[in-house]
Amino acid sequence: MTGPVLGIETTCDETSAAVLDDRGRITSLVVHSQDVHQLYGGVVPELAARDHLRRIEPVAAQALKEAGVARRELEAVAAAAAPGLIGALLVGVSWSRATAFALGVPFVPVHHIEGHLFGPVLEDPEAVPPFVALIASGGHTLLLWAPEWGRYFLLGQTRDDAAGEAFDKVAKLLDMGYPGGPAIEGKAAGADASRYALPRPLLRPLKAAPAPGDFDFSFSGLKTAVARTAEELEAKGSLADEAPHLAASFQEAAVDVLATKTIRAARAVRCPRVLLGGGVSANAALRQRVHAGIGPQGRMFAGSPRVSLDNGAMIARAGQFRLEHGSFGGMGEASASAPLPGLQPWDPHAHA
Ligand code: KG4
Ligand code: ZN
Repeated sequence: MTGPVLGIETTCDETSAAVLDDRGRITSLVVHSQDVHQLYGGVVPELAARDHLRRIEPVAAQALKEAGVARRELEAVAAAAAPGLIGALLVGVSWSRATAFALGVPFVPVHHIEGHLFGPVLEDPEAVPPFVALIASGGHTLLLWAPEWGRYFLLGQTRDDAAGEAFDKVAKLLDMGYPGGPAIEGKAAGADASRYALPRPLLRPLKAAPAPGDFDFSFSGLKTAVARTAEELEAKGSLADEAPHLAASFQEAAVDVLATKTIRAARAVRCPRVLLGGGVSANAALRQRVHAGIGPQGRMFAGSPRVSLDNGAMIARAGQFRLEHGSFGGMGEASASAPLPGLQPWDPHAHA
């Protein structure tokens, strides 16, 4: 790289812009978290798109100003182009494409999940493949095996709700606020996580060899179990007192599933290096469980919230990789669902 890169993130409810220097270090990172959704306890797509449109120019201008970089100095403009809310994505992609065109520099479309894979390396130069990655956020939950940048094997993914979505929905039904992850983690602190026996969906007893589906997730049944318990407590008039314990029991179940599968995945591919990305990776219980599970020979890479939650810096860093790699992996226009470039199915027999 010869110059700074601007990265733009607008896939969901964060408008973010960051400037990275030619060596991939953050020189500025600005995140505007939309609060219009708090009223609804979830992201309203149309409101998200409108707010991105209002914020994108001032957020980008602030990032450039804080970095002390003029637009004409930029080497490229990268933007998250998939997956996400289509109206929200269109704002970031259109703004970035137009800016790059006006400056005569490349526009680099980035897959949001690849962005998350590049989050921790912004703080720790050793957070590079090979690693097993758990990317868990409000929109996605998947386990990947990354032998190198750009080559990813899909070990498993959620069959219904994302892990963060489950945190958000449980927080909503327990009246704990939005986003649910930090709210539940806060209420769970000091509460009794073993008071309510909740299901561990798709967590099967350990067999000698991994079977298809072993690394898939499901969170909607767990959420329903919490809802049913909450209804029973409400009927008894004890929901207010019991809500922190129910929240703690839910967190324990969700973390148990996420951590156990991640540790088993690392064993299955015989790689003790694990990366945690996405908003849910901010969860301290999850970090502790994974860290303890991979043992003293293992390495766990989990960035601070500023690089783990949705942000423009991870998009800029993945964009730098794509520019250096000379391929955008087939990424182009904004798409709600384009697949991760370089993603391949995983064959346990070929890798085990
Ligand atoms: O990566 P992110 O900022 O955006 C998406 O791509 O969705 O993740 C946001 C999600 C939300 O669902 C939020 O509840 C969850 O991450 N989250 C957490 C924690 N902090 C954020 N979940 C569990 N524990 C946390 N501490
Ligand atoms: Zn994300």
